[in-house]
Amino acid sequence: MRHFIVVGILIILVSVLLTIGLDAANLMPLDASAQAAPIDWMWKVMEIAMSFLFALIVVPMVYSLIVFRRRRGETGDGAHFEGNTTLELLWSSIPLVVVVAFSVIGAGNLSQTLSRDPNAMIVKVTGIQWSWKFEYPADPATGLVVVSDELHLPVNKQVLLRMTSSDVIHSFWVPEFRVKQDLVPGRFTELTITPTREGNYKVSCAELCGTSHAFMVKPVLVTTMDEYNAWLAQELVKAKEAASTPEGLGQLLVAQNGCAACHSINGAVGIGPTWFGLFGSEVELSDGATVVADEAFITESIQNPSAKIVTGFESQQMVQYTFTTEELAAIVAYIKTLK
Ligand code: CUA
Repeated sequence: MRHFIVVGILIILVSVLLTIGLDAANLMPLDASAQAAPIDWMWKVMEIAMSFLFALIVVPMVYSLIVFRRRRGETGDGAHFEGNTTLELLWSSIPLVVVVAFSVIGAGNLSQTLSRDPNAMIVKVTGIQWSWKFEYPADPATGLVVVSDELHLPVNKQVLLRMTSSDVIHSFWVPEFRVKQDLVPGRFTELTITPTREGNYKVSCAELCGTSHAFMVKPVLVTTMDEYNAWLAQELVKAKEAASTPEGLGQLLVAQNGCAACHSINGAVGIGPTWFGLFGSEVELSDGATVVADEAFITESIQNPSAKIVTGFESQQMVQYTFTTEELAAIVAYIKTLK
């Protein structure tokens, strides 16, 4: 009986110390969304459960190893035990109750994080190898749409991200918002987030999606509603201006489609050939031929990337983009300016 009391006290002590330790370790990043609260609460409950379970297994084990060890001169066998039905019933039914309880809490938690405000702002998100594209609600006056590779959000306003992918499966993840959702080509998935803290965060891709998966990181800026509106207005002005010249439109399209993820504009070698000084230059192809990078070559390379592959980039695959003739001409006009 004495052993049970000692082990019981040790289990409680170790559980408490572990819970305090786990809590102090601050394993969760800052909580910056309304969805974080139920998730963090459940995490706390799980910390307690984990600590207790760990202590329940490890304390009796270590205690037995030390107290009931074979002492000098002891040669006999240990005592023999047959099964213990009460104990077996207990260690089957208690975990069952705990697991069921956690699944009930988890389901309630999930419905809380999915709950949706009918007035939520809708932002369209596209995952691209290897960038993000965010489309904000159209300007009611002009119908112009602001597109950016950074996510700007007003604080305390629920946003509904309607997400898809242009190539492979990606996953939208801002650790401070806690929630995470896959982006699947040919399908729309949704994620609701209510940012509660102003600040700069980062969205990363949480689904291995190719060579530059690890670099699919873009800023997420949570600001006041006024700051957000000011940014949006400024972007609308830019969009209007840009749309008026082909080079400007080209630059805008390049930024919106995340082309810079692979093509540098300063001569640096990336996943794809640099665009710096590309126009009019002689390009060596993987089949040994040489071509001049003129309008026709660049246009073809955008529309059908594998038609002529530049030496050194045989193992890379460019995303198949669909641009209109006007957009293609604009991108070429922009590439022309990079020299
Ligand atoms: Cu996109 Cu990993």
